[in-house]
Amino acid sequence: MSRSAHPAGPRHADVLPEGHYSAPPTDLNALDPKVWARTVGRGDDGTVTVGGIPVTRLAEEFGTPAYVLDETDFRARARAWRTAFGPDADVYYAGKAFLSRAVVRWLTEEGLNLDVCSGGELATALSAGMPAERIAFHGNNKSAEEIRRAVSAGVGRIVLDSFPEIVRVAHTARELGVRQKVQIRVTVGVEAHTHEFIATAHEDQKFGIPLAGGRAAEAVRRALQLDGLELTGIHSHIGSQIFDMSGFEVAAQRVVRLLEEVRDEHGVELPEIDLGGGLGIAYTSDDDPREPHEIAKALTEIVTRACEAARLATPRISVEPGRAVVGPTAFTLYEVGTVKQLDGLRTYVSVDGGMSDNIRTALYDAEYSVALVSRRSDAAPMLARVVGKHCESGDIVVKDAFLPADLAPGDLVAVPATGAYCRSMASNYNHVPRPPVVAVADGAARVIVRRETEEDLLRLDVG
Ligand code: LLP
Repeated sequence: MSRSAHPAGPRHADVLPEGHYSAPPTDLNALDPKVWARTVGRGDDGTVTVGGIPVTRLAEEFGTPAYVLDETDFRARARAWRTAFGPDADVYYAGKAFLSRAVVRWLTEEGLNLDVCSGGELATALSAGMPAERIAFHGNNKSAEEIRRAVSAGVGRIVLDSFPEIVRVAHTARELGVRQKVQIRVTVGVEAHTHEFIATAHEDQKFGIPLAGGRAAEAVRRALQLDGLELTGIHSHIGSQIFDMSGFEVAAQRVVRLLEEVRDEHGVELPEIDLGGGLGIAYTSDDDPREPHEIAKALTEIVTRACEAARLATPRISVEPGRAVVGPTAFTLYEVGTVKQLDGLRTYVSVDGGMSDNIRTALYDAEYSVALVSRRSDAAPMLARVVGKHCESGDIVVKDAFLPADLAPGDLVAVPATGAYCRSMASNYNHVPRPPVVAVADGAARVIVRRETEEDLLRLDVG
């Protein structure tokens, strides 16, 4: 997932085991601003602070493990996306990356729209006051009930993903006596350079309607015929954790070609184009993501150029960043439980969470970094594998990372860049309750998603 893959020279152990890791950093106490939330720093006493609060205090007050989210950073990143695209485009935050009512309120205040893809996400958005017309409803298999709720709430757009769905949404809209704004999601046939499980624009997969074979053109034909629908544009999402803009370029060009065909066949110029999300973030120091203003400039130019060539008015562009807004703004705070040195192999550091709070390492081979945060240490670097407390050996949080050799039980470590797809994909594996999300801003910390309890787990068990 991350692009880091540099074998290190021998250091702590005589021979380092095989793996993908960078050379040990010169200063293990340093915190790379690329991967840490913006208000994170190390205080004079060596303890890491966020929003001015020492992590030791957060651990005492809220327990570990905990996701710690830097609200100031979240708002700044959301605003940067909003500003970068300007008033003639829309930014839909992808709620699947992480959604809670506080997040919905921040987004609403910062002028972003919201992409939801389930009834649960829709309920969260509406209950926190996101205006329905700023919500886009996604999904490759929306239930009849979800479609009805979305249409009756008055969501701004439903992104149609299949032929049966075109009919279902049209039918529901007619029943409710409204005309629903919709986009059609197409697969453009691009291979995004990312993990197979999160690449979504090649044709052999479950999302969208292929441009190939005239399928997308046929979907447009049908949508234009149905009076319950107002087709406003075409949607393409090519995948996730992407650094290379060329995939977006090809996707935009192909979508614009479809707009051209639609104009030629039906005499209508669809006014919107959505290029999805998928912009990569730095999980380790080896990743170099682009800034929102560079991405906005590149995408706008690509679409404008393609439209000029096709003699189409440039449609209103929207994007759907999830990870790039929330990913870098949080870290997971763990307490070290055991340190096990396996001679000639590596050192296993067990923390009090694991694959239940971060499945990404096991699922996508994702790379993360980790730091000792409760104190400073000048001990030599040791190559460590940070593992969780779950009953399987694939329960790895950070595959290869350097930590100080004097690391001991009771120390706090933190894994940065866990804001996206960690809490939202968390599970109760081994009946481990899910950690809370603690938001920090300007010297104050508050729980925005509380820690799950064993009582919560038992409440569901009604057998
Ligand atoms: N729009 C659509 C239609 C999407 O399907 C997604 C992500 C996004 C936007 C936001 O993508 P982002 O900007 O966050 O990359 N669980 C995986 C990621 C799955 C992404 C699914 N769709 C992970 O942990 O990497």
